[in-house]
Amino acid sequence: MSTQVPEEQEQTEPDEQAAETAVQQRETPGDRRRAERDAERQERQAAAGAPAEPDEDAVLLKVFRYDPEVEGKMEPRFDDFYVPRKKGMTVLDALIYARDHFDTTLTFRHSCRQAVCGSDALFINGRQRLGCQTQISDLDDPVRVEPLPHQDVVKDLVVDMEHFYDQMHAVEPFFQPEEESGGDLEEYRQTRENREKIKMSTRCIWCGACMSSCNIAAGDNQYLGPAAINKAYRFAMDKREGENMKEHRLNVMDQEHGVWRCQTQFSCTNVCPKDIPLTEHIQELKREAVKQNLKFW
Ligand code: FES
Repeated sequence: MSTQVPEEQEQTEPDEQAAETAVQQRETPGDRRRAERDAERQERQAAAGAPAEPDEDAVLLKVFRYDPEVEGKMEPRFDDFYVPRKKGMTVLDALIYARDHFDTTLTFRHSCRQAVCGSDALFINGRQRLGCQTQISDLDDPVRVEPLPHQDVVKDLVVDMEHFYDQMHAVEPFFQPEEESGGDLEEYRQTRENREKIKMSTRCIWCGACMSSCNIAAGDNQYLGPAAINKAYRFAMDKREGENMKEHRLNVMDQEHGVWRCQTQFSCTNVCPKDIPLTEHIQELKREAVKQNLKFW
């Protein structure tokens, strides 16, 4: 007995080694890279709280990752995070949980957590939404979270908003009344009807969701975009600014990259988290611009 066992081992070991070598030889560099990536992914999943068994109480977040400054993270990818499901949990809550419990390098913007500051507009399950306003329970699983499309990504879910702000500033987004108010503490009074007229346009929180959803803005970098045009509408329709200022504002709109670029696709209106009828406002400014240019003899 004792002499046969080593003999068997001597016969099988070289065979196993030969088979292993043959497999390695058949492996292409691509196969090896794929295997390494799978191993990395499994490691990341374990670190991200992946349950051993499917767990209905966990939400699977698939989060876009990209860091141009760290070697090994420059290639865009999606990371999985398993977050315990809680009643009333928003996408922003889930991201904060993932960052605090699994990966502190996960980067995204947020501030007010109540749909006021506009800093956490994201592309969630294929649509522009505010992370703090979007309930996990309203979404299909897995929840896919990406940065706003058509914007340069700075890191992970953070996009460069500079171009968006430039367009907003191009329309002079501040109140320029025709007449001074009665005194330092006097209000600039406005009629109820006029307030009602501009009410919805004042709701803008500069989140950039509308701009990101707009095909025209994606193809024309100079197009003012729905948010800036809505801001212009808010002041052009405010009677306290007077006719001269209205004319000036309409002239800014009535240009090649102004209101006329809008093709009435309604994508901005559909994604606006404050329900502003953006497309309607753009069309109204088009009509106002035409009326201003009409000459009566
Ligand atoms: Fe301010 Fe969502 S965190 S709008």
